[in-house]
Amino acid sequence: MSATTTRIALRGDLLDFTGDPGWGETESAAVRFRPDHWLLIENGRIVGAQSESPDDTWERHDHRGRLILPGFIDTHVHMPQLDVIASYGTELLDWLNTYTFPAETAFADPERSRLGAKLFVEALLAHGTTAAVVFPTAHKVSADALFAAAQQHGMRVITGKVLQDRHSPDGLRDDVDQARADSLDLISRWHGVDRLAYAVTVRFAPSSSPEQLAMAGALCAADPTLYMQTHVAENRAEVAWVKELFPEARSYLDVYARAGLLHPRSVLAHGIWLDDADREALRTSRAQIAHSPSSNLFLGSGLFDWDAAIAAGAAVSLATDVGGGTSLSMVRTMADAYKVQAMAGQRLTAWKALHAATLGGATALGLAHEIGSFESGRLADVCVWDWAADPVALRRMDVARHLHERAFAWMTLADDRNLVQTWVAGALRHQRRGA
Ligand code: GUN
Ligand code: ZN
Repeated sequence: MSATTTRIALRGDLLDFTGDPGWGETESAAVRFRPDHWLLIENGRIVGAQSESPDDTWERHDHRGRLILPGFIDTHVHMPQLDVIASYGTELLDWLNTYTFPAETAFADPERSRLGAKLFVEALLAHGTTAAVVFPTAHKVSADALFAAAQQHGMRVITGKVLQDRHSPDGLRDDVDQARADSLDLISRWHGVDRLAYAVTVRFAPSSSPEQLAMAGALCAADPTLYMQTHVAENRAEVAWVKELFPEARSYLDVYARAGLLHPRSVLAHGIWLDDADREALRTSRAQIAHSPSSNLFLGSGLFDWDAAIAAGAAVSLATDVGGGTSLSMVRTMADAYKVQAMAGQRLTAWKALHAATLGGATALGLAHEIGSFESGRLADVCVWDWAADPVALRRMDVARHLHERAFAWMTLADDRNLVQTWVAGALRHQRRGA
């Protein structure tokens, strides 16, 4: 061990996945539960796990009786929308026009962007999210501010300046040439730097002209290492509008396919109102749906058919979509996902939900070599949680008869108050007050 080696060991109940636990399986060989083990972290990377206490060359953190999980991956969330979270009384298109677009115009101001990005990144860490795919605003400064804040905290963040050149208010519209120049400049300065990656970020089909969609497709074609993020088929009025705006396209998703925006690094939020041909296009393109149950319930958008996506071979990750969603907590999001599936007569296991929020999200993003599990060599993005944070949860844990029951009760009852510590690449980045 060289003088510069940092060795950290975390003791607790280690829970992660070695593969996909499948749909509806409460017992799965893909679940790796190692109660009362030490997770070993050397120079920011996971190097193993063991039941015996490591020697005193390790900085030991004893969280006996607590749950230790890989940091959560939120595959769709909006940095500026902490200003509109929990806004009353609208569906998507009115919500955008009434609350969201006006709030986002303020991020033209570099100081507003800097403060918003700082608040946002720190809030992610305080909810146990260590990696995220994020929308800033149409302003280049908002993307710069978000990249800088994520870099400061050592986080894996994928983002890019929002493209929107029509059907948007003054102060939030760009144009094709400026948007291309801003995107290329941001790509040259941030893509592949530390743990950051650039996503060509089309807000949604209605707010980009066909010329802008073509420009976005050309950016993706020029560099296949870029991500792409957008919204698709979220709300019925939105879908009808897209049909009017793009009569030549077979479907909403097809607008993106025709522009060259569907590829393995595409992250499409929602996908509620898709058909079988769309799901087949997702399978063949290997693009993923970022399922956002909290947002879908709050904005009354609809019930996502997760089972149909799986049956079609389409990748699904899990996302908060704050501020359409009402919490940055991926735990609250998993609980909402269960309820959405219950409404559709389906059952989402704790394993499927936890997998989607960790290894599943990492795999869909092509990042399973870096994040999402406790496999040796992964960066140590790790969270320590209390199994229970109040007497009701404590009692429920006491009477749980097996591991899935316990994990499911945790996912249903826990929130950010259960979070004790957040580690990012082996550095302690958030600690509960008094912990
Ligand atoms: N569609 C276009 N923009 C947005 C947004 O900001 N939030 C959601 N939920 N859907 C969108
Ligand atoms: Zn969104």
